[in-house]
Amino acid sequence: MTDPSDRSTARPVLVLNGPNLNLLGVREPEVYGKETLADIEALCHATATEHGLRADFRQSNHEGVLIDAVQEARTAHRGILINPAGYSHTSVALRDALAASDLPVVEVHLSNIHTREPFRHFSYVSAVASTVICGAGAYGYALGLAQLARLTAVVR
Ligand code: DQA
Repeated sequence: MTDPSDRSTARPVLVLNGPNLNLLGVREPEVYGKETLADIEALCHATATEHGLRADFRQSNHEGVLIDAVQEARTAHRGILINPAGYSHTSVALRDALAASDLPVVEVHLSNIHTREPFRHFSYVSAVASTVICGAGAYGYALGLAQLARLTAVVR
């Protein structure tokens, strides 16, 4: 019999990582922490499983590739956890793609962008995100997935 609370076989959530996040671990560890992107991916898969979800984990340095992934998510995924990285502060196009996705969006940043340089205080993505998490380091991804599990609780 199908267990309606088991969402592990339903559409995965998309965990999307923007530019330079492939360098985590070596990139300014005092700001972004020592965890690598592979460590964060493992955390996401474990957290997704805990919540009966599957995570599709991706990273790109290219704005258009990120936008393509968001467009595909509209029909392939149940929600989006995104660290838009530098594009948070510059990309109207990524914001528009997220708005068009019709999916719950959770925005995550490793660092607390509000205590950093003024140009990081504004994120185009925040206006189209249900939830914004920043300053929790890699753990922010686990918090974000837990929240996405709540937001996507209706089986799609
Ligand atoms: C970041 C914060 C951004 O300002 C920065 O450009 C990044 C990473 C974070 O996770 O703290 O690349 O999104």
